[in-house]
Amino acid sequence: MIKFDNVSVSFPDKKGQIVDAVKNVSFEIGKGEIFGIVGASGAGKSTLLRTVNQLQRTTGGRTIVDGSDIGRLSGPELASLRHSIGMIFQQFNLVSTKTVAQNVAFAMEIAGRSREKIKQRVPELLELVGLTERAEVYPNTLSGGQKQRVGIARAVANNPKILLCDEATSALDPETTNDVLQLLKEINRKFGITIVLITHELDVVKKICQRVAVMDKGEVVEIGEVFDVFTKPQHEFTKALLSHTFDLDLPERLTSDPSKPLVKIIYNGDKAEDSIVSNVVKHYAVDVNILHGKIEYISDKPFGILIVQLIGAQEELDKSLDYLRKNTYRTEVINERN
Ligand SMILES: Nc1ncnc2c1ncn2[C@@H]1O[C@H](COP(=O)(O)OP(=O)(O)OP(=O)(O)O)[C@@H](O)[C@H]1O
Ligand SMILES: [Mg+2]
Repeated sequence: MIKFDNVSVSFPDKKGQIVDAVKNVSFEIGKGEIFGIVGASGAGKSTLLRTVNQLQRTTGGRTIVDGSDIGRLSGPELASLRHSIGMIFQQFNLVSTKTVAQNVAFAMEIAGRSREKIKQRVPELLELVGLTERAEVYPNTLSGGQKQRVGIARAVANNPKILLCDEATSALDPETTNDVLQLLKEINRKFGITIVLITHELDVVKKICQRVAVMDKGEVVEIGEVFDVFTKPQHEFTKALLSHTFDLDLPERLTSDPSKPLVKIIYNGDKAEDSIVSNVVKHYAVDVNILHGKIEYISDKPFGILIVQLIGAQEELDKSLDYLRKNTYRTEVINERN
């Protein structure tokens, strides 16, 4: 559906130096996928995304949409491509002097749809996003979540094949974010629209994306199924990005004593971890203090972390750790002696 083939984008900065915003990016996004792109600010996410509808031209390589090299399109062909790609933004970008219904209709007018078609479709779209009652109001009377719903109705008005979302939920509170994500999921399922979603909120990716690419300094440093990337991050940058979610904050007094190992046990729902911990206590002469526990759901699969402190003689500690390493998805000692 979308193929980035060695895509690079460079800009001259204010001092005339070249900034490589995107460097040699190659990967593909399949039809009907919900694909996430994450990375720190300035990583090049928006620049890469904007090559998909040619709001940004590539300076090297090609972005291919539905088999055509869109860098070669111009005039009516480019306009028609843009109508087949919807986009939503963090700041909603609604027209403040138009009502909700007029904002949605506007997208169809620009695409040259007939009056009858617009008249018929706008109510359907407002129904889809749950704003039938607000059709005649102006955007300034809407909440953030409602504004983004208008943005979504507008973005899908012309039946696009692709929906690009650039930080679409970043200005919303968590509950509203959830509602908007559910709506995106529904749109993906109902109409088979391919969704590419940029975000700095890993929670968003965990909730709705199937695959994710991690960008750092213009490059894709990691890509894969969300569950795999989030549970077994390979690249240093991804590990650092995920540490906010998974490194549970513990006081220094606990982490500074290597004679009492602090053990992070990670399980992915396949193993009965409770019994594994109680087995350790039963079989070895150690005490286990549970310090922290958390279960995350990533792409609807449970992924748990348990942090325990083991107290006992060295030999018993070694045996317990051995047992844990063999019987859990992953076991790490986080305050290891150097
Ligand atoms: N039009 C432009 N002219 C010059 N430099 C630009 C332009 N657009 C982006 N850049 C630079 O390219 C790099 C990548 O920017 P980009 O907006 O793609 O990052 P991002 O990952 O979307 O960041 P954020 O999370 O902050 O939105 C940055 O260094 C940015 O300053
Ligand atoms: Mg951006």
